[in-house]
Amino acid sequence: MKFTRRQFLGLASAFGLASCAKVKNVVPDLNLARFTPSFGGDEFTFATINDLHVLDTKSAGIVNQAVNSINADDRVQFTVVLGDIATDGRYEELKLAKVALDRLEMPCFAVPGNHDVDMKAKDLFGNYTSVYGPAHWDEGEEGWLFIGLNSCEESKSDVTLPQTELDWLEQTLKKVNRSRPIALFAHHPFNPGTKAYRVINADAVLGLFAEHSLKLVAAGHYHGNQVEEHNGVLFTTTACCSTTRDNFDETPEKGYRLFHVTKDAIQTEFITVRS
Ligand SMILES: [Fe+2]
Ligand SMILES: [Fe+2]
Repeated sequence: MKFTRRQFLGLASAFGLASCAKVKNVVPDLNLARFTPSFGGDEFTFATINDLHVLDTKSAGIVNQAVNSINADDRVQFTVVLGDIATDGRYEELKLAKVALDRLEMPCFAVPGNHDVDMKAKDLFGNYTSVYGPAHWDEGEEGWLFIGLNSCEESKSDVTLPQTELDWLEQTLKKVNRSRPIALFAHHPFNPGTKAYRVINADAVLGLFAEHSLKLVAAGHYHGNQVEEHNGVLFTTTACCSTTRDNFDETPEKGYRLFHVTKDAIQTEFITVRS
């Protein structure tokens, strides 16, 4: 996503950045925003949206509705897509969703879900990375650090985070000042009390943050709203934003989640989207 100068100056101002702050495009031809904001000391709001399960043009409709709603909310500084963007990990599905997500006026980041994996391909994440860029990432040079984790183990629903991803996370955290607040984004849930699908080695993953200031772990996959706080960390899953799938908890509402971050707390709310 490319900034207009007005949009970027507005964003830079919100984050207390100079107008010469870096905007880096890792995948410039694919229009996915990558930036290095500073959130230190600031209050800000961001959105997460998950489990779009786009299959065809019609099923991208609810994504467009969600994008309209997010764009209409001046508070939202960026959006993170928490996986299951596609149905079968097909390039066409991922691209259709990307066309809708490209309409977001503020930056957008993404992590893959088990339905974004192409099990027929040699490179399981090839379709995903060709459209959305790296399957894991960290953003933010000071203040808050945002980590996008690739929690997929092939296309499994119950996953053990692979050792390669654990190693990447460990190396990433080595570079991070221990006092920095961290938000972790992944497709599969880490909520200690989730009704299903908790990452099998979730405790080992969370253990890597023992000496750090992890504040939030936001996930999808469960297709239902679950919010809990455990040892000072806020864990969430959110209803799907899809017309091709139902919520696993049988609630009818589809939508996305907002996080309102202040110096002392994170408040979260679910926003319903009508298709
Ligand atoms: Fe899903
Ligand atoms: Fe999933």
